[in-house]
Amino acid sequence: MAVKDDVLAALGKVSSPEGAPLPATGKLSEIVATDGKVFFSITVDAAAVKLWESVRERAEAATRAVPGVKSVMVALTAERAGAPASSSAAGGKAAGPPPRPHRTGAAAAPSPAGIPGVAAIIAVASGKGGVGKSTTAVNLALALRDLGLKVGILDADIYGPSLPKLLAIREKPQTIGGTRLKPIERHGMAVMSIGFLIEEETPMIWRGPMVMSALTQMLREVEWGALDVMVVDMPPGTGDAQLTMAQQVPLKGAVIVSTPQDLALIDARRGIAMFRRVNVPVLGIVENMSTFICPQCGTRTDIFGHGGARAEAERLGVPFLGEVPLDIAIRENSDAGTPVVATAPDGPHAKCYRDIAARVRDGLQTASRPAPKIVIEA
Ligand SMILES: Nc1ncnc2c1ncn2[C@@H]1O[C@H](COP(=O)(O)OP(=O)(O)OP(=O)(O)O)[C@@H](O)[C@H]1O
Ligand SMILES: [Mg+2]
Repeated sequence: MAVKDDVLAALGKVSSPEGAPLPATGKLSEIVATDGKVFFSITVDAAAVKLWESVRERAEAATRAVPGVKSVMVALTAERAGAPASSSAAGGKAAGPPPRPHRTGAAAAPSPAGIPGVAAIIAVASGKGGVGKSTTAVNLALALRDLGLKVGILDADIYGPSLPKLLAIREKPQTIGGTRLKPIERHGMAVMSIGFLIEEETPMIWRGPMVMSALTQMLREVEWGALDVMVVDMPPGTGDAQLTMAQQVPLKGAVIVSTPQDLALIDARRGIAMFRRVNVPVLGIVENMSTFICPQCGTRTDIFGHGGARAEAERLGVPFLGEVPLDIAIRENSDAGTPVVATAPDGPHAKCYRDIAARVRDGLQTASRPAPKIVIEA
């Protein structure tokens, strides 16, 4: 808490292009400070980005000089829809505009800049919470790794990050050169989560621009290195975070996770519609928590029904990627940070995930991103 106050006091000596103290401009986000790692964003009008770049630099320098601060990340976030990202965004300094959806008619969106060295980025998503996105994302990433690909995994769930738990990661990422972060290496994958930077109990009260800048920083200010695939574990829903990902990241495709029953499928449909609206190809649907096979007697019970996702995939004309059974071993391993694909690579579950991964890999080879054009209905 003290560091946060000291940072705020230091920022009081940094003035805006108009000469006002930075905290008085209303452009400063909440300041997040944990273990000497500080980050915040400055959200300005896109037309004024150039004027504010030096403010960002001075804010960063002032923060770094605060006793107890070990590393600083400050994002300059532009607030305007429809304009191309400022050239400095590609250099990782500015977060680029988080375009608000146009409410009237169609608009050409900026073509999102790629992440240097990352060949393909895929989102694992669903409209609904708790259907197993994170579990699927982790095991899918491991299965892609088993297919010989160099894989990274990014936790885009800013509100409820899961990767620290699912991969049993407690260490903090190191910084490189003061500002860029090194992802954590786990099971041969590069891993990044906002959960590495904040304590588990910290309430996640993020303001809109903060969500945007945290995401863009985790994408652009992390040394991902050369990756064949980056798997992004999405938060539930079709809100700001999804739109940011879809608009600011050149997603090669989306994998939709659903349980077999109608209720979850309705949300999966919403997720699919959202990715289609922002021209991200849907690589297919995974039916998670499909058939349950009793470990005692071997009886098969379709707790949430069975086959709903396959039928829905057919109806929507998207590939069906496969089924993952509802199994205590998946849950226990997932929650213990020992994902089944890593700990039981010869078991039946690992095979399920590898089959899904092979279909995803094949889908990636054919998926091509159509010309960027965003049409969001009023
Ligand atoms: N196939 C499965 N069999 C048994 N348990 C599973 C399976 N898939 C996921 N689970 C369990 O279900 C719970 C929710 O899974 P998970 O956290 O992956 O869902 P999520 O969709 O990412 O949730 P959220 O929307 O909160 O991000 C976890 O306890 C997980 O271990
Ligand atoms: Mg999750």
